[in-house]
Amino acid sequence: MLDLTNIRNEFPMLKKNNLVYFDNAATTFKPYKVINAVMDYYENCSVNVHRGDYDLSFQVSNQFDQAREAVAKYLNATSKEIVFTSGASSSLNLVAYGYGQKYLKEGDVILSTEAEHASNILPWFKVSEVTKAKIEYIPLNEEGILSIENFKKAMHDKVKVVTLAQVSNVLGHKVPMKEICKIAHSYGAVVVVDGAQSVPHLKMDVQDLDIDFLAFSAHKMCGPTGVGVLYGKYDLLQATDPFLLGGGSNARFDICGNILLKNAPYKFEAGTPAIEGVLGLKAAVEYLMDIGMEHIEEYEKELNQYFVEKLRPLEHVVIYNPSGTCGIVTFNVKGIFAQDVASYLSSKGFAIRAGNHCAKILIDVIQASETLRASVYFYNTKEEIDAFIQALSEITLEKCIAVVI
Ligand code: ALA
Repeated sequence: MLDLTNIRNEFPMLKKNNLVYFDNAATTFKPYKVINAVMDYYENCSVNVHRGDYDLSFQVSNQFDQAREAVAKYLNATSKEIVFTSGASSSLNLVAYGYGQKYLKEGDVILSTEAEHASNILPWFKVSEVTKAKIEYIPLNEEGILSIENFKKAMHDKVKVVTLAQVSNVLGHKVPMKEICKIAHSYGAVVVVDGAQSVPHLKMDVQDLDIDFLAFSAHKMCGPTGVGVLYGKYDLLQATDPFLLGGGSNARFDICGNILLKNAPYKFEAGTPAIEGVLGLKAAVEYLMDIGMEHIEEYEKELNQYFVEKLRPLEHVVIYNPSGTCGIVTFNVKGIFAQDVASYLSSKGFAIRAGNHCAKILIDVIQASETLRASVYFYNTKEEIDAFIQALSEITLEKCIAVVI
């Protein structure tokens, strides 16, 4: 059971605003612990890492290294398997270009789904263009759910990379990742996971799931923007090329152009990193681990079910994912354009996202080009959901037009 009063007091955005914030799949609010970690860096130890031969640089470099250990602990990985990037998009691009483009060839297949966010399909389009490897899609059912039966049918010997989101950013469905990894590995394929919507919400164990690569962003899990992580099994990271070169990532280079790169993860981290972001991410994962990811997962499931239960009786609302469990509820108000509904709800103090949510192939599967997405996090409450449902039950086309014009 979460102590919501205490939790909500730890977030300045929740204390200062009357906003009911249901856009947590886009980004989350930050607790004081994270804000203070970022400010502490700027106020008290604002120097570079792994470059200076003075005490303050050693001190910040140690904190930076401890951040890698904290993230590794959060995932049940080892710290040498944690690469700091600028976010999930950058991590997914790194795998596509550094691993996919290096090893895939004509005749190979990249297996994905039609529910992917742009970040986990556009880089693979490019890799497919360059390598002539083909992209195939695992069929989803009409609710956008990936079943293990359909995954088994889609797998074959030519599949070399399976790349998919653990939790869809539009529908919030969780895929059976452990079984997927087991089956993919039995064919010799590598599994790349977009964890942007799963890592902030679920208890993760990359060893138990046997994931090969996992990408996620700090800002969707109470951390700062501009920093993210690529987890990779160490031998796979060693086999992956960096797609960015520069200071800090090489051991030696000479006038003839010979470069000796450092080992993973350092070979991927050219240039001065987002030091304050990494220290903020450390504070975020420690904060989440203190609450307990199993408690967060359980509470969000409860909130999700409550949300759907309250939304279902509204006859003017169509829900696209009534069986979702990961805190994302996607719906439309019949006869009113999604953006207009979002603007009306904003005028009443509610923040939700409207549109296609960067998953532009999925709109054909669910037969809706625009949807409304309400996404909760562990600091949201049932009272907020009640207030939202009340506002939604009073909506009319005339009221929306009055707000929009
Ligand atoms: N990827 C984020 C979302 O789905 C921005 O809203």
